[in-house]
Amino acid sequence: MGLLMLLHVLLVAAAARAPAAQAWGKEGHYMTCKIADGFLTSEALTGVKALLPSWANGELAEVCSWADSQRFRYRWSSPLHFADTPGDCKFSYARDCHDTKGNKNVCVVGAINNYTAALQDSSSPFDPTESLMFLAHFVGDVHQPLHCGHVDDLGGNTIKLRWYRRKSNLHKVWDSDVITEAMKDFFNKDQDAMIESIQHNITDDWSSEEKQWEACRSKTTTCAEKYAQESAVLACDAYEGVEQDDTLGDEYYFKALPVVQKRLAQGGVRLAAILNRIFGGNGRLQSI
Ligand SMILES: *[C@@H]1O[C@H](CO)[C@@H](O)[C@H](O)[C@H]1NC(C)=O
Ligand SMILES: *[C@@H]1O[C@H](CO)[C@@H](O)[C@H](O)[C@H]1NC(C)=O
Repeated sequence: MGLLMLLHVLLVAAAARAPAAQAWGKEGHYMTCKIADGFLTSEALTGVKALLPSWANGELAEVCSWADSQRFRYRWSSPLHFADTPGDCKFSYARDCHDTKGNKNVCVVGAINNYTAALQDSSSPFDPTESLMFLAHFVGDVHQPLHCGHVDDLGGNTIKLRWYRRKSNLHKVWDSDVITEAMKDFFNKDQDAMIESIQHNITDDWSSEEKQWEACRSKTTTCAEKYAQESAVLACDAYEGVEQDDTLGDEYYFKALPVVQKRLAQGGVRLAAILNRIFGGNGRLQSI
C-alpha cells in the first residue's frame, strides 16, 4: 500500500471515529424522508425533484444523510444538528439555541427555520439544493430525542454503555441501535418493510393524531421549536435510570422502540408539511 493510500485510510478511519454521530443514523434519515415522500403534494414533489442533485435519482430519501457527510467540509454546520438543554426537560429557544461560543440561532431549530426561509426566497444567496438537503436532514434530527439531550454529556454521547453485548453510547442507541435491532427482530432486516409498517400506522392507529402533528399556525417560521420541546421531554425519559457503563437490553429496547417509531413518523409527516408549504403555495412562510 502506498504511503498516500495509507494516510488516506488512516484519515478516513479517524473521521469515522470522531464524535460526530449526532444524527439519526442513515436508516433513520432515509425512513423519515421516505415517509415524507408519501405525503407530498404533486406541486411539492415537482419542486423537490427539480432541486435534487442528479445522484439522487429523483429520490428525496437518497439525500437525507448528505448533511452528515458534510460535517468536516462545512465545519460551521456541525452545531446545526442538535439543540441540547441544561436537562430540565424543556427546550427554550432563547436559552438553548446557540453554539458553544454563544452565537445565537445556531442550533437545529434555527437551521430548520433558516433553510425553510432560504427555500422560500428566490433571491436567497444560498444554494437551494443544499438548503433542501439540509432541511430534510435537520427535520429528522430535531425528532431524535437525544438531539435535544443534555449539554453536559453532549446529548448522551459521553454516556458509554453496552447495547446488549456491543459497545455503544446513549446517543447512538437512539440514533441507530434501536432501529437496527427492530429491523432485525421484526422486519427481516428489510428497511422498506419497516417503513411500510410505520406508514400503515400513520394512516391507521395514528390517523387522528396525524393532523395535529402537521398543524402549524405560525405564518413566519416553522414549528420546529415545538418539535424540539417534544424531544426534550422524551430525552428526559430516555436518560432515566441510565448510568455510565450500564448494559441496556430488552427492557430498555421495548420502551424505546415505540417512541423511535413514532418520532420517525412525525418527522416524515412534518417534513412533508413544511415542503408542501414551501412549494405548494398554500400558507406561505415569509422570510425570517
Ligand atoms: C443559515 O444558512 C447559512 C448558509 O448555508 C449558514 O451559513 C448559516 O450558518 C445558517 N445559520 C443558521 C442559524 O442555521
Ligand atoms: C404501530 O402502532 C402500534 C400501536 O400504537 C405499536 O404497538 C406498533 O409498534 C407500531 N408499529 C410501528 C412500526 O410503528
